[in-house]
Amino acid sequence: MNGYNLNGYNLIVNGNIITYISDKPIIKNLENSLIKLKNSSILFNNNEIIEIGSYKEIKSKYDLNKLDNIIDVNNSWVFPGLIDCHTHLLFSGSRVEEFILRQKGYSYQDIAKAGGGIKYTVNKTINENYTNLKKILLNRIKLFKESNTKIIEIKNGYAIDIEKEIDHLNLIVEVSKDLDIIIVPTFLAHIPSCDFENYLKKLESNVEKIRKLTQFFDIFIDKTAFSIEQTLKILEILKDYNFKFRFHVNEFEDDGFINKSAELIKDYDIISFDHLLVLTKENIESLKKMNEVKDVFGVIMPSTSWFLNKNYANAKLLQDNGIPICLATDYNAGSSNVFSLQFVANLAAIYLKLDIHDILAYLTINPAFLLKLRAGQIRKGFLPIFSFINLKDYREFFFSLNF
Ligand code: NIG
Ligand code: FE
Repeated sequence: MNGYNLNGYNLIVNGNIITYISDKPIIKNLENSLIKLKNSSILFNNNEIIEIGSYKEIKSKYDLNKLDNIIDVNNSWVFPGLIDCHTHLLFSGSRVEEFILRQKGYSYQDIAKAGGGIKYTVNKTINENYTNLKKILLNRIKLFKESNTKIIEIKNGYAIDIEKEIDHLNLIVEVSKDLDIIIVPTFLAHIPSCDFENYLKKLESNVEKIRKLTQFFDIFIDKTAFSIEQTLKILEILKDYNFKFRFHVNEFEDDGFINKSAELIKDYDIISFDHLLVLTKENIESLKKMNEVKDVFGVIMPSTSWFLNKNYANAKLLQDNGIPICLATDYNAGSSNVFSLQFVANLAAIYLKLDIHDILAYLTINPAFLLKLRAGQIRKGFLPIFSFINLKDYREFFFSLNF
């Protein structure tokens, strides 16, 4: 990980560390769990952070002659490795034509209804050969990595046909094996095929295969995608397979599914609702109710609002009601061609009006809880995944775009 020799011990020196340390997600930065340690060292091996402290303290406890690497970060800030918990990286083709149509006043949903949108990308993607698709995926992952993202959730979803979707998910799992960043695969039921009964049958006969590749299942609920009735039929099939569920909801209007979920949560391990550009009072009540039972995150992607020139999700309302938030890029073929979490952080500061320390939580510790990873915190026993931010003042990260 991080490109160093990982056989033994590594030591970061001269780092300014900023991290949350907490056993539960951060709602707001009022909990005193934000730690800043200037001029510090981090001792770690391949699997975990061993010690954090001053060089002197660490030297007094460990034989530093045995170190494989000393990484002098010259007073850079060290953030927990940034996590993008919602992306759709695996697709082929360009939707630039739609971008031009949107400039002329056509909406995302108009274009989707006319057979463009996701369907256009599906057509391009299923006709792309495997080697090219793999190359495209790897190039995109590289872009993310270069912009300081260290963990990426990636969904399939541009194939429609269940067996092809599984091939795509498989490709995501396969490429992740040779990478020095962590990839979390998620199965996405993006849009239904014309023959929905057949879609369900295929899902039923392949569900075990899917479960072997991922524990996460996502469904896009929208007028242009799955209805609530269709979603319930899908859920019925998945019931006994121990999936963790995420839902694309309320991107364009209140789809009614958030309120419905307040009943479903006893039977299904629901972990997030993503998008939430529309949030009614009733939605908030339902989210609060679900959060009394377990952590159910609101995943907000301001780059989609920016890209589609739409309103921004009311993140402050979620905060004020105790709903844990994650931020992500939603990188995809049509509604967010944005890979930079730094840009997301900047949008969140300007348009969601979030405190920058909250934004840090929503890009580190909270998505780690969402994705069930021992990451997102610079803490003993946690994965040694860091984002080095070469800035004097860490607040510049949220302000001055360079990734
Ligand atoms: O998360 N909303 C659904 N899916 C993607 C968009 C996919 C596309 O337009 O290609 C999203 O925004
Ligand atoms: Fe999405």
